[in-house]
Amino acid sequence: TANTSTPEPVKVTITGGAGNIGYALSFMIGGGRLLGPDQPIDLTLLEIPQAEKALTGTVMELQDAALPLLNSVRGSTDQADGFKGCHIALLVGAKPRGKGMVRADLLKANGAIFKSQAGYIQDNAHPDVKIVVVGNPANTNAAIIAEFAPKIPKSNITALTRLDLNRSLNQISSRLNIPVRDVKNVVIWGNHSKTQFPDIKNAEAVINGQTTPVPNVITDQNWLANTFIPTVQQRGAAIIKARGKSSAASAASAVCDHIYSWWVGTAPGQIVSMAVMSDGSYGIPKGLCFSFPVTCKNGKWTIVQGLNISDSFSQERIQATLKELVSEKDIAVSHLR
Ligand code: NAD
Ligand code: LMR
Repeated sequence: TANTSTPEPVKVTITGGAGNIGYALSFMIGGGRLLGPDQPIDLTLLEIPQAEKALTGTVMELQDAALPLLNSVRGSTDQADGFKGCHIALLVGAKPRGKGMVRADLLKANGAIFKSQAGYIQDNAHPDVKIVVVGNPANTNAAIIAEFAPKIPKSNITALTRLDLNRSLNQISSRLNIPVRDVKNVVIWGNHSKTQFPDIKNAEAVINGQTTPVPNVITDQNWLANTFIPTVQQRGAAIIKARGKSSAASAASAVCDHIYSWWVGTAPGQIVSMAVMSDGSYGIPKGLCFSFPVTCKNGKWTIVQGLNISDSFSQERIQATLKELVSEKDIAVSHLR
């Protein structure tokens, strides 16, 4: 008789599995943060051959943790093998930004990595593979995957801006002196970069037991424009400065949130942000991977329509991040020809 209580394992591949983010992420996945506490996972850590020793060690540690949700764990340094049959591809592996570098510096090196990976994923992964790009410049790398893996449905290719959303929730909850779980629906528009636009117009906070629009309780426009937005935009650089390395566990945690929302669905009334291949919503051209407000159900995301961004404050910021994404893609594509 069929066993209906244990679902079939889902195949998850992490590229850069032995790096900073991969190390934190694989243990969060084994703990149930990615797909929930009841979903077994076949986990593959994919690395470049130069990282083989660190990869072996990471796989040994994951095995030693005896995590019940991990149906299997393995390492691979072969891209065709590493993506074989995978349902979820977490594309973390890339060169990270060092002190003083801007993400555009990474366009050339990482564009080549993602072009080649696009082919391996298209030829080897499950045809409905869900992809999130974390390696920077994440949005543009996702657009490169879309360009060079035309058989993968565009709606399956996303990039991570959930970390920016979580950073925003933290800034707002600190300002209001309430727990972070009581803030929701900040929207991240655009690029995962210093031009992104964290927008609180639709955000809500629970204050004294009452759901309250955040703009009603944070009315200091100067704080929003000159403290909140730049803090979120530059948080990645602030972490690099403080730690000497780019964010790792917070990024891994955001990857889990991103996939969990997409796979399991968003809660009623919850809006999250994901960078997705634009369908033309809000006037953003197709072919760009742009962060939008979304809700998720049955493994599909839907862009929330009709939010008001026509005021000049919002438009100025949306146009700036759009302009950056257009130029990043132009530069990346020109290197790849
Ligand atoms: P890291 O250098 O510690 O690890 C990266 C790993 O990727 C290394 O182990 C490396 O061997 C591996 N790698 C490189 N090229 C690969 C390839 N072609 N295939 C498979 N593996 C490959 O870096 P990290 O701190 O883990 O960061 C990884 C990436 O994530 C960086 O690009 C960083 O800028 C980015 N990042 C993005 C966000 C976000 O919110 N989108 C947040 C933090 C970091
Ligand atoms: C982050 O936002 O922490 C990462 O994208 C690292 C970086 O380069 O800012």
